[in-house]
Amino acid sequence: MIESLQALQREAHDELSNSRTNDELEAWRLRFLARSGQLTRLLRGVGVAAPEDRPLIGRVANEVKAALESAYEARQRDFEQDAERANGDFDVTLPGRLPRRGAIHPTIRVVRDILTVFQSIGFRVAEGPEVEWERYNFELLNIPRDHPARDMHDTYWIDTPTNPGSMLLRTHTSPNQVRIMERTAPPVRVVVPGRVYRYEAIDATHETMFFQIEGLAVDRGITMADLKGTLTAFARAMFGSERRILFYCSYFPFVEPGVEVAIDCFACGGAGCRICKQSGWIEIMGAGMVHPNVLRAVGYDPDVVSGFAFGMGPERVAMLKYGIQDIRLFYGNDLRFLRQFA
Ligand code: PHE
Repeated sequence: MIESLQALQREAHDELSNSRTNDELEAWRLRFLARSGQLTRLLRGVGVAAPEDRPLIGRVANEVKAALESAYEARQRDFEQDAERANGDFDVTLPGRLPRRGAIHPTIRVVRDILTVFQSIGFRVAEGPEVEWERYNFELLNIPRDHPARDMHDTYWIDTPTNPGSMLLRTHTSPNQVRIMERTAPPVRVVVPGRVYRYEAIDATHETMFFQIEGLAVDRGITMADLKGTLTAFARAMFGSERRILFYCSYFPFVEPGVEVAIDCFACGGAGCRICKQSGWIEIMGAGMVHPNVLRAVGYDPDVVSGFAFGMGPERVAMLKYGIQDIRLFYGNDLRFLRQFA
């Protein structure tokens, strides 16, 4: 049965390429594809095949049918084009149809720009899982179960049959600090881009999925001055060689001291404008010195090595850079928005 189907398919293909006129094409269709055609006739035979063979025969028959139908349509299009040319309908002076060019998504552009800057000063790039263990996302980052800082991260929990409630969609890229230190001896210099997820109300500045780029440097004798120098170099490469950088106290459980980092506004130079909300400064990331508890948790000795870490949001950088007012535009898939970056 299957062999007859395949033989029929070969025969039909041969005949199709021999057809030269519309009449011949129509005769071919009646002979092979029509309700009274050979394929249909052959398929009636499926009923007498052994029941266990029927699924396979049915599948092959469907494939043959689909192949013949699309060959028929392709041939039909050939004929139509030939006819147009013969009628002189084909205007050789018409401009060709340009293929549409895709564009790099604005987030990815900014991610690449940021990574390039850090790679140029000795950081390597790594990645980690988006589905993460509670341990990595919180515990090992000095955020125990009853810690109020968990409220800052509204979490999408994932229940698995064996581990109810202990997996989640990572709420930040910081778990990669732990993952990388666990498998690497110091010194470490690494940046980690990736998607993160937060269960929160969506508005012009909040999405449930967005990107972060984590940075981590650990070595003997690393100090806050290294953090400041590195981030100043980054800010100047990214936003202009005149940039100044401002640290102010902040709190993240996995760093001590913790800071928030701002640059002087690249639009107004610090005088105050709409972009910096008249303050002269634009906040671009959280950072700090890696907490001794985090170093200890991965088996590093905080009396021997120290490090800094930072985390920033590329959408925020893209919003500043391209003047995008609403974060919802990034993942709304409106092509009119995306094409502007072609
Ligand atoms: N993980 C923090 C956040 O998502 C950012 C951060 C990273 C802060 C590294 C300090 C050091 O808000």
